[in-house]
Amino acid sequence: MTVTADSYRAAMRRHPAGVAVITMMADTGPVGFTATSLTSLSLDPPLVCFNITHTSSSIAALRRADTVLVHILDEHQCETARRFSRSAEHRFAEAGSWSLLSTGEPLLAGTLTWMRLSVQQLIPAGDSTLVIGGVLHVQCDSHDGSTPPPLIYHDGTFLRTMPLVDAG
Ligand SMILES: Cc1cc2nc3c(=O)[nH]c(=O)nc-3n(C[C@H](O)[C@H](O)[C@H](O)COP(=O)(O)O)c2cc1C
Repeated sequence: MTVTADSYRAAMRRHPAGVAVITMMADTGPVGFTATSLTSLSLDPPLVCFNITHTSSSIAALRRADTVLVHILDEHQCETARRFSRSAEHRFAEAGSWSLLSTGEPLLAGTLTWMRLSVQQLIPAGDSTLVIGGVLHVQCDSHDGSTPPPLIYHDGTFLRTMPLVDAG
Protein backbone atom coordinates (compact mmCIF):
# COMPACT_ATOMS: atom_id res chain seq x y z
CA MET A 1 0.00 0.00 0.00
CA THR A 2 1.36 3.37 -1.01
CA VAL A 3 1.31 6.16 1.54
CA THR A 4 0.59 9.32 -0.39
CA ALA A 5 1.31 12.82 0.87
CA ASP A 6 -2.44 13.39 1.09
CA SER A 7 -3.08 10.26 3.17
CA TYR A 8 -0.17 11.08 5.48
CA ARG A 9 -1.45 14.64 5.93
CA ALA A 10 -5.01 13.41 6.48
CA ALA A 11 -3.90 11.21 9.39
CA MET A 12 -1.68 13.88 10.95
CA ARG A 13 -4.47 16.47 10.73
CA ARG A 14 -6.28 14.28 13.28
CA HIS A 15 -3.36 14.51 15.69
CA PRO A 16 -3.92 17.56 17.92
CA ALA A 17 -0.88 19.43 19.15
CA GLY A 18 0.09 22.33 21.34
CA VAL A 19 1.61 25.30 19.54
CA ALA A 20 5.09 26.71 20.12
CA VAL A 21 7.20 29.42 18.54
CA ILE A 22 10.95 28.79 18.34
CA THR A 23 13.17 31.89 18.25
CA MET A 24 16.90 32.51 17.98
CA MET A 25 19.26 35.33 17.12
CA ALA A 26 21.10 35.14 13.81
CA ASP A 27 23.81 37.41 12.38
CA THR A 28 21.06 39.05 10.33
CA GLY A 29 18.69 39.60 13.27
CA PRO A 30 15.96 37.69 15.08
CA VAL A 31 14.59 34.51 13.48
CA GLY A 32 11.65 32.34 14.49
CA PHE A 33 8.88 30.04 13.34
CA THR A 34 5.69 28.39 14.59
CA ALA A 35 6.08 24.70 15.45
CA THR A 36 3.71 21.99 16.61
CA SER A 37 6.47 19.39 16.68
CA LEU A 38 7.68 20.27 20.19
CA THR A 39 7.85 17.14 22.35
CA SER A 40 9.16 16.26 25.77
CA LEU A 41 12.09 13.88 25.30
CA SER A 42 13.85 13.29 28.63
CA LEU A 43 13.43 14.38 32.25
CA ASP A 44 16.91 13.45 33.47
CA PRO A 45 18.62 15.26 31.91
CA PRO A 46 15.80 17.60 30.78
CA LEU A 47 15.61 17.44 26.99
CA VAL A 48 12.98 18.47 24.46
CA CYS A 49 12.91 18.04 20.71
CA PHE A 50 11.21 19.63 17.73
CA ASN A 51 11.69 19.44 14.00
CA ILE A 52 12.39 21.95 11.31
CA THR A 53 11.77 21.40 7.63
CA HIS A 54 14.76 21.89 5.32
CA THR A 55 12.86 24.44 3.24
CA SER A 56 12.36 26.69 6.29
CA SER A 57 13.86 30.16 6.08
CA SER A 58 15.02 29.55 9.68
CA ILE A 59 17.12 26.43 8.94
CA ALA A 60 20.45 28.23 8.35
CA ALA A 61 20.10 30.19 11.59
CA LEU A 62 19.16 27.06 13.51
CA ARG A 63 22.16 25.15 12.20
CA ARG A 64 24.38 27.93 13.58
CA ALA A 65 22.49 28.57 16.84
CA ASP A 66 23.96 27.54 20.19
CA THR A 67 20.74 28.39 22.04
CA VAL A 68 17.07 28.91 21.16
CA LEU A 69 13.92 29.93 23.03
CA VAL A 70 10.77 27.81 22.94
CA HIS A 71 7.58 29.80 23.59
CA ILE A 72 4.59 27.64 24.53
CA LEU A 73 1.61 29.65 23.33
CA ASP A 74 -1.64 30.15 25.20
CA GLU A 75 -5.07 30.66 23.64
CA HIS A 76 -4.57 34.46 23.51
CA GLN A 77 -1.59 34.05 21.16
CA CYS A 78 -3.30 32.74 18.05
CA GLU A 79 -2.25 35.84 16.13
CA THR A 80 1.37 35.18 17.13
CA ALA A 81 1.11 31.59 15.89
CA ARG A 82 -0.22 32.81 12.55
CA ARG A 83 2.39 35.56 12.23
CA PHE A 84 5.28 33.15 12.83
CA SER A 85 4.01 30.74 10.19
CA ARG A 86 3.54 33.39 7.50
CA SER A 87 5.84 35.85 5.77
CA ALA A 88 9.17 35.91 7.67
CA GLU A 89 9.67 39.66 7.23
CA HIS A 90 6.61 40.46 9.37
CA ARG A 91 7.44 38.17 12.29
CA PHE A 92 9.48 40.65 14.33
CA ALA A 93 8.35 43.85 12.55
CA GLU A 94 6.05 45.20 15.25
CA ALA A 95 7.85 47.36 17.82
CA GLY A 96 7.33 46.09 21.35
CA SER A 97 6.27 42.62 20.25
CA TRP A 98 9.59 41.17 21.38
CA SER A 99 12.69 41.99 23.39
CA LEU A 100 16.21 40.60 23.69
CA LEU A 101 17.09 38.55 26.75
CA SER A 102 20.45 39.30 28.38
CA THR A 103 21.51 35.91 27.00
CA GLY A 104 20.83 37.17 23.46
CA GLU A 105 17.67 35.34 22.34
CA PRO A 106 14.46 37.14 21.22
CA LEU A 107 11.61 36.77 23.73
CA LEU A 108 8.05 37.32 22.47
CA ALA A 109 6.06 39.78 24.60
CA GLY A 110 3.17 38.36 26.59
CA THR A 111 4.48 34.80 26.65
CA LEU A 112 3.85 33.23 30.05
CA THR A 113 5.61 29.91 29.40
CA TRP A 114 9.00 29.66 27.76
CA MET A 115 12.20 27.64 27.90
CA ARG A 116 15.76 28.41 26.92
CA LEU A 117 17.51 25.51 25.22
CA SER A 118 21.06 24.66 24.29
CA VAL A 119 21.07 23.06 20.85
CA GLN A 120 22.63 19.65 21.50
CA GLN A 121 21.95 17.52 18.41
CA LEU A 122 20.68 18.07 14.89
CA ILE A 123 19.56 14.80 13.32
CA PRO A 124 18.58 14.96 9.63
CA ALA A 125 15.53 12.79 8.91
CA GLY A 126 13.75 12.83 5.57
CA ASP A 127 12.88 16.39 4.54
CA SER A 128 13.43 17.73 8.06
CA THR A 129 15.94 17.88 10.88
CA LEU A 130 15.15 16.73 14.40
CA VAL A 131 16.54 19.20 16.92
CA ILE A 132 17.34 17.99 20.44
CA GLY A 133 17.66 20.75 23.00
CA GLY A 134 18.89 20.68 26.59
CA VAL A 135 16.64 22.75 28.85
CA LEU A 136 18.75 25.51 30.45
CA HIS A 137 15.94 27.63 31.91
CA VAL A 138 12.20 27.26 32.42
CA GLN A 139 9.78 30.18 32.90
CA CYS A 140 6.20 29.41 33.97
CA ASP A 141 4.34 32.66 34.75
CA SER A 142 0.62 33.06 35.36
CA HIS A 143 -1.89 35.91 35.59
CA ASP A 144 -3.93 34.32 38.36
CA GLY A 145 -1.92 31.38 39.67
CA SER A 146 -3.55 28.87 37.33
CA THR A 147 -2.11 27.16 34.26
CA PRO A 148 -2.72 29.36 31.18
CA PRO A 149 -5.22 27.79 28.75
CA PRO A 150 -3.20 26.39 25.85
CA LEU A 151 -3.47 27.06 22.13
CA ILE A 152 -4.17 23.86 20.19
CA TYR A 153 -3.82 23.06 16.48
CA HIS A 154 -6.05 20.36 15.04
CA ASP A 155 -7.40 19.63 11.56
CA GLY A 156 -5.80 22.80 10.21
CA THR A 157 -7.46 25.05 12.80
CA PHE A 158 -6.32 26.85 15.95
CA LEU A 159 -8.52 25.90 18.90
CA ARG A 160 -8.90 26.40 22.63
CA THR A 161 -9.48 23.51 25.01
CA MET A 162 -12.73 22.77 26.78
CA PRO A 163 -13.03 20.33 29.68
CA LEU A 164 -15.23 17.28 29.19
CA VAL A 165 -18.19 17.36 31.52
CA ASP A 166 -18.53 14.17 33.53
CA ALA A 167 -22.00 12.96 32.57
CA GLY A 168 -22.03 10.46 35.43
C1 LIG B 1 0.39 25.08 13.20
C2 LIG B 1 1.72 25.06 12.48
C3 LIG B 1 2.72 24.22 12.93
C4 LIG B 1 3.96 24.17 12.30
N1 LIG B 1 4.94 23.35 12.77
C5 LIG B 1 6.16 23.34 12.18
C6 LIG B 1 7.21 22.55 12.70
O1 LIG B 1 7.06 21.84 13.70
N2 LIG B 1 8.42 22.59 12.06
C7 LIG B 1 8.61 23.38 10.96
O2 LIG B 1 9.72 23.39 10.42
N3 LIG B 1 7.63 24.15 10.46
C8 LIG B 1 6.43 24.15 11.05
N4 LIG B 1 5.43 24.95 10.56
C9 LIG B 1 5.72 25.82 9.39
C10 LIG B 1 6.47 27.09 9.82
O3 LIG B 1 5.83 27.75 10.89
C11 LIG B 1 6.57 28.05 8.64
O4 LIG B 1 5.29 28.38 8.21
C12 LIG B 1 7.31 27.45 7.49
O5 LIG B 1 8.58 27.02 7.91
C13 LIG B 1 7.50 28.44 6.35
O6 LIG B 1 8.20 29.53 6.86
P1 LIG B 1 9.37 30.25 6.06
O7 LIG B 1 8.69 31.19 5.12
O8 LIG B 1 10.13 30.98 7.15
O9 LIG B 1 10.20 29.20 5.40
C14 LIG B 1 4.19 25.00 11.18
C15 LIG B 1 3.17 25.85 10.73
C16 LIG B 1 1.95 25.88 11.38
C17 LIG B 1 0.87 26.81 10.89
